[in-house]
Amino acid sequence: MSLRARLIGFGSYLPKQIVTNADLAERIDTSDEWIRTRTGIAQRHVAGDGETAVSMAVESARAALDYANTSADDVGAVIVATATPDQSFPATAVRVQAALGMTGGFAFDLTAACSGFVYALATAEAFIRSGQVRKALVIGTEVYSRIVDWEDRTTCVLFGDGAGAVLLEATEEEGYGILSTHLHSDGNYGDILFVDGPATPRPVLHMQGREVFRHAVAKLSSVVDEALAANGFQPQDIAWLVPHQANLRIIEGMAKKLALPLDRVVITVDRHANTSAASIPLALDEAVRDGRIKPGDLVLLEALGGGLTWGSALLRL
Ligand code: COA
Repeated sequence: MSLRARLIGFGSYLPKQIVTNADLAERIDTSDEWIRTRTGIAQRHVAGDGETAVSMAVESARAALDYANTSADDVGAVIVATATPDQSFPATAVRVQAALGMTGGFAFDLTAACSGFVYALATAEAFIRSGQVRKALVIGTEVYSRIVDWEDRTTCVLFGDGAGAVLLEATEEEGYGILSTHLHSDGNYGDILFVDGPATPRPVLHMQGREVFRHAVAKLSSVVDEALAANGFQPQDIAWLVPHQANLRIIEGMAKKLALPLDRVVITVDRHANTSAASIPLALDEAVRDGRIKPGDLVLLEALGGGLTWGSALLRL
């Protein structure tokens, strides 16, 4: 009997402070109209004092454990995807492990920028499929407000802060849980989206927006095709697309490619902006809790980020 990883818990956390496009337009040369038209973003949450990558991850993890009525003692692994850890080490994940009161299991961070959650999900799934772990927390947590250049209008308007978590559990039930994951990277494009190294006094994010956009459309198209083909599904079999939330135009392009109406796509980019590795679990949590995504639904996840990295996951809830 083969093991699969099923998603049984969902949680998220958004900082209390909201910064609207109008707020940004007071500080830099931009406008609500420009940001909405080019990106679909209307506002973003920004971490305040006391809100950190760790604190937000812990809140989202607690919510996911509560959702599944599960004790942290039963969790065998904590994997945190983040490009904005509070410290180089120890890992965000071990801080989360300690805050949850866990004394067993193992915890580590993983960096794949905006694809981080899909990478972390694939990694946790591998531990579960191999029988090493029965329950795993997979968390995306990001504080991009601390790595964007708030004077650079071409990047600072795009990002937001937040965290999201899922709890995975081993199951032997056929056809449920994570059906397949598909990961890719190409380091030749490392310089079109990057953050300065730690030797820089205040490292900031740099991006060639048009180039990233071009790669996103092509690579995401091919990785969703790969997920459907691997499982013998057609686009119309998908109940919900939960894409990484970078830009509404990219999301609409993917929906069009799959011939999915937008009411079967979970969209949070308007309110959250791009929260990188946190965007997919934030969107999943919202749509599961408000009843849009239901048990038994076929759900497709996809993301592309710095690296370049990209990937998809197909799952049945
Ligand atoms: N407000 C007003 N004007 C702005 C602006 C802002 N916030 N940011 C850029 N502009 C200006 C530019 O300076 C440029 O002006 P110019 O023509 O006088 O030089 C003009 O708007 C067009 O800029 P351009 O970069 O060509 O716009 P675009 O249509 O490509 O949109 C992005 C820019 C960033 C929204 C778009 O490229 C994008 O979404 N790329 C993908 C980014 C992404 O998803 N990154 C994360 C991946 S995980």
